[in-house]
Amino acid sequence: MSRLDSFIRRLEAQRACLDAAAAMIACTPGPVLEVGLGNGRTYDHMRERLAGRAIFVFDRQVATHPASTPPPEFLIIGDVRKTLAGAAGRIGASAAMAHVDIGSGEEAANAVLAAAIVPSLVALMAPGGVIVSDQPLAHAGLELLPLPGGVKPGRYHMYRVR
Ligand SMILES: C[S@@+](CC[C@H](N)C(=O)[O-])C[C@H]1O[C@@H](n2cnc3c(N)ncnc32)[C@H](O)[C@@H]1O
Repeated sequence: MSRLDSFIRRLEAQRACLDAAAAMIACTPGPVLEVGLGNGRTYDHMRERLAGRAIFVFDRQVATHPASTPPPEFLIIGDVRKTLAGAAGRIGASAAMAHVDIGSGEEAANAVLAAAIVPSLVALMAPGGVIVSDQPLAHAGLELLPLPGGVKPGRYHMYRVR
């Protein structure tokens, strides 16, 4: 498979998982977390699909397309290994959904970062909340969910918070 095909399939998987999670949390109150703002593409998709929800966004910097820049009161800037751990007061309620998209090209570093943030992330979530992630997450408080049809196992990941 060409790198272009692989990239397109990753984005299709990302969108399918975000849409499935948005439907799953329709009856779960609470804000939404975007961990890894990047260009703001998935943030823009989430704010369209989750209209009316507060979306708190985490990244070490703002490097978005201008049309996809979150309002400052929803931006939490810094290393997610620190900012997630201190975010409960700022967010103000348990989160119904989170999207984690923090991967770089380095698999080993991605795994270390995911393991470092998962306890703080789970602590911010409501029971029954859904996490969509580019990295596999291991935590006793998470139950692995099946992926939407057409998404190859391992390409993206979905979890329900126990
Ligand atoms: C793949 S990009 C996110 C893409 C974004 N979801 C989109 O659709 O445009 C990954 C982002 O994670 C952020 N990131 C990676 N490690 C981080 C860390 N330790 N603390 C804060 N942000 C981090 C990077 O700055 C980058 O913006």
